[in-house]
Amino acid sequence: MTIHFIGAGPGAADLLTLRGRDIIASCPVCLYAGSLVPEEILAHCPAEARIVNTAPMDLEAIIAECRRAHEAGQDVARLHSGDLSVWSAMGEQIRRLRAEGIPVSVTPGVPSFAAAAAALGAELTLPGLAQSVVLTRTPGRASSMPAGETLTNFAATGATLAIHLSIQNLATVVADLLPAYGAECPVAVVYRASWPDETIIRGTLGDIQAQMGEGIERTALILVGPALSGEGFSESCLYSPDYDRRFRPSTATGTARG
Ligand SMILES: C[S@@+](CC[C@H](N)C(=O)[O-])C[C@H]1O[C@@H](n2cnc3c(N)ncnc32)[C@H](O)[C@@H]1O
Repeated sequence: MTIHFIGAGPGAADLLTLRGRDIIASCPVCLYAGSLVPEEILAHCPAEARIVNTAPMDLEAIIAECRRAHEAGQDVARLHSGDLSVWSAMGEQIRRLRAEGIPVSVTPGVPSFAAAAAALGAELTLPGLAQSVVLTRTPGRASSMPAGETLTNFAATGATLAIHLSIQNLATVVADLLPAYGAECPVAVVYRASWPDETIIRGTLGDIQAQMGEGIERTALILVGPALSGEGFSESCLYSPDYDRRFRPSTATGTARG
C-alpha cells in the first residue's frame, strides 16, 4: 500500500503523464487538491473509488485519510496541480507519512511555468539574453520569504523570472523590478495556462498594470525578463554547422528517417 503523489499538470486534462493516469486508475482512493485539478482527470479513477477534495481539510485530516487507507491496505492517488516540486505542500505530508512508516511515491507533472511558456510560444533561456529561470513568489498572507530571496536580488541577475502566487501584488512586483530591468523590459501575465479560459496579457514593466483588465486575481503567472521579447538573441552552438560536438562531428551530413 502506497500514497502516490502525482503532479496533475497545469489544467488541461491531457497534460497528465501516462504514468500518473495509470496510477490514478489503479487506486481505490483519490485525494485531490481542489479546483485546480480538473474534473476530467478525476474521471480516470475507478468507478467505485473514494474521491475526496482536500481543499477544505487541514493537514491532520489529510494524514488521517491516508492512515485510514493504509490500514485498509488501499493505495491512494494524491493529486496536486502542476508539478510537486514547487508549492505543492507535498513536503509536509511526506514528512508526516514517513514518520508513520507509510510508503510514498512521487510522479512528476507539467509545472505551470512550462505551460505558461508554451502558451506564449516562448523559450525562457535565450543565448545572450538569459540562461537562468528563477521560479519564485512574493510574500503572502500565510507565507513569508526567507531573507535574501527578494525580487530585487533576483532582478540583479537579469534572469527570466517566473513569479507565482503574486498577481495580487503586481504593483509591488513592478516597483521592485523596475530599477534593474527598466520600463521597456517585456512582461507576460498568463492566466490559467492550458485551461479553456487561458488569457495572455503582454506588456512591459512600464505598462503592464495599465494592460491588465478586470477579473485576473489568481491562478496567473507573471513572467519577466529580456528573453520574453523573443528577439535580439544569438543562435546557440547546438545546430551551428561549425560546431564540432560529440554526436554530430562537423564532418557528418544529415540523415532522414521515415
Ligand atoms: C500553489 S501554486 C502551485 C504551483 C504548481 N505546483 C506548479 O507546478 O506550477 C499556485 C500558483 O501557481 C501558478 N499557477 C498554477 N496553475 C497555473 C496555470 N494553469 N496558469 C498560470 N499560473 C498557474 C499561479 O501563480 C498560482 O498562484
